[in-house]
Amino acid sequence: MKQVQSRIIAPDNGDLAVEAHALVKTFGDNRAVDGVTLNVRAGSIYGVLGPNGAGKTTTIRMLATLLRPDAGSAKIFGHDVVKEPQIVRQLIGVTGQYASVDESLSATENLVIFSRLLGLGRAEARHKAVELLEEFSLTEAAKRPLKKFSGGMRRRLDLAASLIAQPPLIFLDEPTTGLDPRTRNQMWETIRRLVKTGSTVLLTTQYLQEADELADRIAVIDRGRVVAEGTADELKTSVGSSSLQLRIQNPQDIQDARQTVERVLMVQSAVSPEGGKITAPMADADRVTDLLIAFRETGIQLAELSVQKPTLDEVFLTITGHGVKEDAAKEMDETDEVRGIKQ
Ligand SMILES: Nc1ncnc2c1ncn2[C@@H]1O[C@H](COP(=O)(O)OP(=O)(O)OP(=O)(O)O)[C@@H](O)[C@H]1O
Ligand SMILES: [Mg+2]
Repeated sequence: MKQVQSRIIAPDNGDLAVEAHALVKTFGDNRAVDGVTLNVRAGSIYGVLGPNGAGKTTTIRMLATLLRPDAGSAKIFGHDVVKEPQIVRQLIGVTGQYASVDESLSATENLVIFSRLLGLGRAEARHKAVELLEEFSLTEAAKRPLKKFSGGMRRRLDLAASLIAQPPLIFLDEPTTGLDPRTRNQMWETIRRLVKTGSTVLLTTQYLQEADELADRIAVIDRGRVVAEGTADELKTSVGSSSLQLRIQNPQDIQDARQTVERVLMVQSAVSPEGGKITAPMADADRVTDLLIAFRETGIQLAELSVQKPTLDEVFLTITGHGVKEDAAKEMDETDEVRGIKQ
């Protein structure tokens, strides 16, 4: 029953599940994906992290043969997405595609139909449906038609459906967006289980914590470009071994405070979008003493100061010069030229 699809076509590249090189997709004059290069090792969880409109879904759609790249190339287990789409499709699963055969049918009926389409016998298909609904806490809703499902329930059913075939490579486009914490944890467990039982997962997320928690490697994508790539630890290290965070008592002092930080630590500082917190990478946590002395000398009053291991949030802020949750309108105002200078 496992790996129904991989029996048909075996992956012929044992090492890399995804090799994407300089992928580009333009919509009108919007370069939604602007030269994305990604390598995903088979058997790993790869996280593509970026804010709204970064180009995550567009990238996945190209890798999943749903959208033709304007430039660049991509191979899935060694098979070219443009030249061998039929083979690629047999090696992948994409959530958002499978769950709803028919909105008026129940969750059970939908899962049974999927199982049958994948070649399972009648009894086996029913058994599988019950088992998956149970695992995703959907048993109570088993008989309910899909059109009465909430967003979170749909997402769970969606992932459940992709577990029937369990293809070698599974694309999960924001699998946990909008889910409550308990359901999110459940999803994470399921994703880990998928990988333990032989699949490779490429997931997109807007949640730094999720990428940190799940992904073996992470690509940070911003405005169609990969702005950083590595393990969560590597990305954290790239902003310095420690991260300074401070808040000052008087908001008017913020520029002076930043100058002081930058002068003493000899680094660039950033201001987080929520609430004027100054953050800066620190090569050496001991330098905080120098900083405190400098603040006393300049007469800037601190409200809060901490030195900690950088979070992915700060990594994003440091790399892109803006926060993850910065509002879309502001992003749209910025021209490519401005971005070029910032990076
Ligand atoms: N079919 C389309 N036609 C025109 N523009 C599109 C289309 N699909 C995406 N875009 C644009 O391409 C850019 C990238 O969109 P994409 O959906 O890939 O972002 P995303 O990272 O998945 O964002 P989100 O987190 O909101 O899902 C956006 O500016 C979006 O408006
Ligand atoms: Mg998207």
